[in-house]
Order: sequence, then C-alpha cells, then structure tokens
Amino acid sequence: MMNNQVILSLTLAIFFAGAHAATITFTNSCPYTVWPGSLTSDQQPQLSSTGFELASGASSSLTTPVPWKGRFWGRTGCSTDASGKFSCATAECSSGQVTCNGNGAIPPASLVEINIVANGGQDFYDVSLVDGFNLPVSVAPQGGTGDCQTSSCPANVNAVCPAELQVQGSDGSVIACKSACTQFNQPQYCCTPPNDTPDTCPPTNYSQIFEDQCPQAYSYAYDDVNSTFTCSGGPNYVITFCPSA
Ligand SMILES: *[C@@H]1O[C@H](CO)[C@@H](O)[C@H](O)[C@H]1NC(C)=O
Ligand SMILES: *[C@@H]1O[C@H](CO)[C@@H](O)[C@H](O)[C@H]1NC(C)=O
Repeated sequence: MMNNQVILSLTLAIFFAGAHAATITFTNSCPYTVWPGSLTSDQQPQLSSTGFELASGASSSLTTPVPWKGRFWGRTGCSTDASGKFSCATAECSSGQVTCNGNGAIPPASLVEINIVANGGQDFYDVSLVDGFNLPVSVAPQGGTGDCQTSSCPANVNAVCPAELQVQGSDGSVIACKSACTQFNQPQYCCTPPNDTPDTCPPTNYSQIFEDQCPQAYSYAYDDVNSTFTCSGGPNYVITFCPSA
C-alpha cells in the first residue's frame, strides 16, 4: 500500500511532467490535403511525429517537450510513386517518407517558428516567409499571459508572385513563390556580407511583395522586429493552414 509521501511524490511528478509539455494543434482549413512537417532546432531530439497527413477540415495534435525550439510547415501536392517513394510538390523534405525524420523543408515554404521557454517564461513565435511562400498559415497561442496575439499570413502570395519567383505545378498554376534570396542568391536579398546588418539590408521590391500581402510575417531576414510575437505562462499553440483573413 502506498503511504502519503509516495502519493505526494507521484502527484508532484505528474504535475511537473504536465508543466513540461506544450500541445501544438494543427487545423487544415484549406480545401486540399496538407502534410505538416516538423523540425526541432539545435540538434535536439525530433518530436514524436516529424510529418503526417492532414485531410481538408481535419485537426491533429502533437506534444512538444518544454523548453522546445523548432519550426512547422505544410507540404502540398504529395504522393507516393510506384517504387514507394513519397514526395511533395511544395515544401518537400526529401525523406522519401511522410515523416521528415530531421530534414527541413526545401524552400519555398511558409514557416511557423516557435521558441517555447521553460517555467512559463516568454515564448516567441512567428510566421516566416524568409524562405518563400507555399500556403497561407497562422499560429495562435491558447491560454498564456501577455500579448499572445495570433500571427497570421492569410493571403495567397502565389496569386501575386512575380514571374521570376514563381514555382509552377505540372498544370502551369503557381504553387509556390520563392524568396528573392533563394532565386537570385545575392547579398542584398539574402542579407549576407557585405549586406549583413539591418542598415545595409533594407527591404527590396521583392520582399515588399511578401510584406504587403502578409505584414505580420517576416518578409526577409531583417524585417521589423514586430514580426516576432510573444506569449508567457506556458500557452499551447494552434497552427491553421489557410486561416480566414
Ligand atoms: C525589382 O528590382 C529589380 C532591380 O532593381 C528589377 O530588375 C526587377 O524587375 C524588379 N522586380 C519587381 C517585381 O518589381
Ligand atoms: C510593424 O510595424 C510597421 C511599421 O513600423 C507597421 O506598418 C506594421 O503594421 C507593424 N506590424 C505589426 C504586425 O504590428
């Protein structure tokens, strides 16, 4: 029979285990299937799922340890070929499987970046179009204290993507929009030396297209700091593909 001290220890262990997890819920509001991918940063262990299928209208959750830092994205146009190799038309992670297994998304890909800190401290999160755009996405903290605003890129940047940045599908439609850095690999677009400070890497006519469509998202490496959002107190997060505007 357990004595009171054992019961107290177990209760505390369960309490602290609970405080060391955050739930990320994915909702697919797109009229098509999306295959979310995840990548944990800083050589830390990958999450229990690094990729899965999410039908139109479906929701699914993942748990992260706390602290945790990493990114999420949505792959589109995925299929498995005759040899059993899985691949996607956008935001492909080149694992050959539905799970990304520690691989990131090949640009262009709309990214959700989340930095969850320990002990209910101040989390950071953002939507980034620094690696280009493939589909609209938002990230919303649930619970938590402080600012805790939704960061959203609800616009379809593909619809206004200039010809030189377009990625076209087999039917000729625009399925993703590259960043100028990916397309031209030049310092003024990539903010690499000698343009590697905010002062020497102002917005460009290309980053402005992303900024105009989705002002809350990072449009290039040195976009305003106000594209980073904060929330304290250990919130959970909801990531929505094709959020309403
Ligand atoms: C952006 O500027 C570059 C160089 O200044 C020019 O070649 C290009 O056509 C412009 N593109 C757009 C979409 O405005
Ligand atoms: C960020 O700041 C710029 C001006 O500095 C403003 O136009 C933009 O709306 C701000 N974005 C957000 C998400 O507050």
